[in-house]
Amino acid sequence: MAETTQRRATFLGFQPPAIDDEEIDEVVATLRSGWLTSGPKSRELEAAFKEYLGVEHAIAVSSCTAALHLSLVALGVGPGDEVITSPITWPATANVIVHAGATPVFADVRPGDLTVDPERVAELVGPRTKAIVPVHFAGAAADLDPLHALGLPVVEDAAHAVETAYRGRKVGGLSEATCFSLYATKNVSGGEGGIIATNSAAVAAAADALRVMRRGHGSLYDIETTGFKANLSDVLASIALPQLRKIGRHRVIRERHVAAYDAAVAGLAGVTPLERDPRDTHAHHLYVVRVDPAAGAGATRDEYQRALTEENIGTSIHFLPVHRLTAYRRLLPDHPPLPVAEQAGDEILSLPLSVAHSDADIADAIAALQRVHARFSR
Ligand SMILES: Cc1ncc(COP(=O)(O)O)c(C=O)c1O
Repeated sequence: MAETTQRRATFLGFQPPAIDDEEIDEVVATLRSGWLTSGPKSRELEAAFKEYLGVEHAIAVSSCTAALHLSLVALGVGPGDEVITSPITWPATANVIVHAGATPVFADVRPGDLTVDPERVAELVGPRTKAIVPVHFAGAAADLDPLHALGLPVVEDAAHAVETAYRGRKVGGLSEATCFSLYATKNVSGGEGGIIATNSAAVAAAADALRVMRRGHGSLYDIETTGFKANLSDVLASIALPQLRKIGRHRVIRERHVAAYDAAVAGLAGVTPLERDPRDTHAHHLYVVRVDPAAGAGATRDEYQRALTEENIGTSIHFLPVHRLTAYRRLLPDHPPLPVAEQAGDEILSLPLSVAHSDADIADAIAALQRVHARFSR
């Protein structure tokens, strides 16, 4: 295999945003329009998401965290309830369960794709279980059918999953609510932002009422709901709109980068990409490998990450198991071990993947990984 011997001259960011004149022009037009808060651009974004996802309702909010929180509250989750979720996620997924006054219950994940294992979820369902929050990790669809079969409301964390389809059906309208992120690194980005997608008029109405405390236009006003402040600014919606229009073009680039990684890691013993179910459409939000020192990698994930940083290649870790983080050790001191998630937490490494990366950037990341592997596996 041809290997370059040169360390990359400049640091390769892990997930830089892919912004060009389309986003810039749209933001400038919005600023000139005088709308800074939620207005016509947020409505336009909601309409565009509705159409893209093929759902009845899309509600633009300030983050996916807010989308998940509002969805749980809209479904009546509150004190005394339990909500079952995945430990392999950004802590926000569990935090919002706590914010709603309920208790998160973590079910172990499947070793292949690190989405929550429906069998483990089923074992944890009890009289207090009020909802299930699966995570479409890295862009892989969680196994929704057996989760739906449990008969509980499901709120999908689709922060990574705007392009994901489960068994040929696009995520968005498959559960009570599906929550997308428009955070800076996401496949469709507004810098910050989120979308609640649902086919339930009741969930949509409740989430809409909770999204913002509406003020009346006169000097007097009244409120019917003690709402939050989770609406999306038109400035951010103006960044996300062109991003959604470009999603197909961007996907071609992501697929090319993923194919290059697949071909390269196939030759690296002990460095294994997560599984992708051929029945589903993967959003390719993250390219995650497991680094197994005993299977030929010759060093730990942390050693690989440090070596890649020295090679000027930015990587990241998605995710450390949430039940092992300090806040959750305190909240749930007797939490049982989750062996699959905990082993994954030691082994997983996310390689640079962005539409803003050129083919040469990805080739640099691959060459660096090959050099590091050659050194450690000697
Ligand atoms: C799996 C997952 N869920 C939820 C979130 C929260 O998204 P946001 O930053 O839009 O609140 C993230 C953010 O990175 C995430 O990766």
